[in-house]
Amino acid sequence: MLKATFYGHSCVYVTDGRHRIIIDPFLDGNPLSPVKADSIDVDYILVTHGHGDHLGDAIPISKRTGATIVAPNELAIYVSREGALAHNMHIGGAYNFEFGRVKLTIAHHGSSAGESGLEYTGNPCGFLVTMGGKTLYHTGDTGLFYDMKLIGEMNKIDLMFLPIGDNFTMGIDDAVKAVEFVRPKAVVPMHYHTWDIIDTDPEEFKRKLAGSGVNVAILKPGQAIEL
Ligand code: NI
Ligand code: MN
Repeated sequence: MLKATFYGHSCVYVTDGRHRIIIDPFLDGNPLSPVKADSIDVDYILVTHGHGDHLGDAIPISKRTGATIVAPNELAIYVSREGALAHNMHIGGAYNFEFGRVKLTIAHHGSSAGESGLEYTGNPCGFLVTMGGKTLYHTGDTGLFYDMKLIGEMNKIDLMFLPIGDNFTMGIDDAVKAVEFVRPKAVVPMHYHTWDIIDTDPEEFKRKLAGSGVNVAILKPGQAIEL
């Protein structure tokens, strides 16, 4: 069993009933999030890149709960320096945690943090998470890339979280192509509505995938999908 709860933007809380993880915990600054960071209790925090709308509240959650932040090496070094616990990884690498297996995928984007927003935090990533017998692919922020086809060929993806908001990431038409490459059983659109500049219509994404055989699950913040 795997239950994924969407907290708006790119934040997903995942549990198999025994273990709890959260991906890109942008909560207190997230106008869409129905929960605050101080209500989150997890074992691990996966962070795709250093931008504030992804690193979000990861450091305070780690400090308060003792949760380990799993991130690309340079970002892991950054959060360690800020007093959080970290497990350093990098693209192409996988590791078996007690909750399941995590593999880092490429993402075409930037990654920086700090007060200026310009402190370099390495390459951004996506996550393949195998947990509770299911595999979830959270792409992080990225443009479309052809290697998604390889990710789909080499992994049976049960659930994909994919940005559709355009401007900073792929938009709807590229996201439709990404779904065609990966062929997940279900896909949840993310990274839209948060601000005007990425306000787009997820129903258009769903319409364009009608007949594809892929379940397009449009989740409102706070809603969950159970596999
Ligand atoms: Ni970003
Ligand atoms: Mn973002």
